[in-house]
Amino acid sequence: MSYENILSKTHDGITTITINRPNKLNALNKATINELNQAFKVADKDKKTKVIIITGSGEKAFVAGADISEFADFDVAEGGKLAAKGQELLFDYVENLSTPVIAAVNGFALGGGLELAMACHFRIASDNAKMGLPETSLGVIPGYGGTQRLPQLVGKGRAMEMVMTAGMIDADTAKAYGLVNHVTTQEELMPLCEKIAGKIMRNSPVAIKGAIKAINANYKDGVDGFKVEIKQFGKCFGTDDFTEGTTAFLEKRKAEFPGR
Ligand code: COA
Repeated sequence: MSYENILSKTHDGITTITINRPNKLNALNKATINELNQAFKVADKDKKTKVIIITGSGEKAFVAGADISEFADFDVAEGGKLAAKGQELLFDYVENLSTPVIAAVNGFALGGGLELAMACHFRIASDNAKMGLPETSLGVIPGYGGTQRLPQLVGKGRAMEMVMTAGMIDADTAKAYGLVNHVTTQEELMPLCEKIAGKIMRNSPVAIKGAIKAINANYKDGVDGFKVEIKQFGKCFGTDDFTEGTTAFLEKRKAEFPGR
């Protein structure tokens, strides 16, 4: 499939999706959000894709936010719709995907860019990355899940300070906050993401899918995560992956998961 604003390629089990508007620091306009939804959908259905990595094109930015030029003249109804549609098509969509999604944060991750990184299952940053939710400096609040996911990841006080000051934090601070798992050089960012993707690929995709559901349940209002865990745990016992995983262990060999 060909896209105008993104690139998507699959190699050795990894689909790498690159937001490709470097002249606009990869800002998320409507067309890009639609294309990302499509690319994630395709990758999630593709049996060859075991892990998805999302990154930004160029050396400067992951994503410098939602495209400000597109919403500057919106009214109340349009503003609400912008947030609702974006959350549905991209941010909630990515968070609830069955295929693991790693954000390779290669530069500025601001506003919708940080919100996109936070919707991914985890984040790895290069040492030039800068992260923040600057929306209050534009007279709005984060609308792509930032007010919910930032406190989940860094705690309420830090989230409040980041949103109220509209400031940026560097990659080391983001790591100290628990916002990113690892910090590396720009050159090593993709190799490190691919190395971690390789470790994920050794394990059962069916079990990983269940684990994503159970972990995400902890953050859903009105959902008992322990019950979701029990259900997902039980389901594993009916899978070929479970038979293969336990048999391989007892036979002292490496498991070859069929992914069923
Ligand atoms: N929306 C639309 N365009 C954006 C953008 C955004 N969020 N972020 C950057 N751009 C565009 C700039 O308008 C500029 O386009 P131009 O060359 O046609 O004028 C281009 O990307 C390069 O950005 P520039 O501001 O010149 O780069 P810089 O190195 O001086 O500054 C930033 C980098 C990230 C500090 C700055 O671009 C910025 O503050 N961006 C907005 C961040 C933001 O508020 N995001 C939240 C949106 S809700």
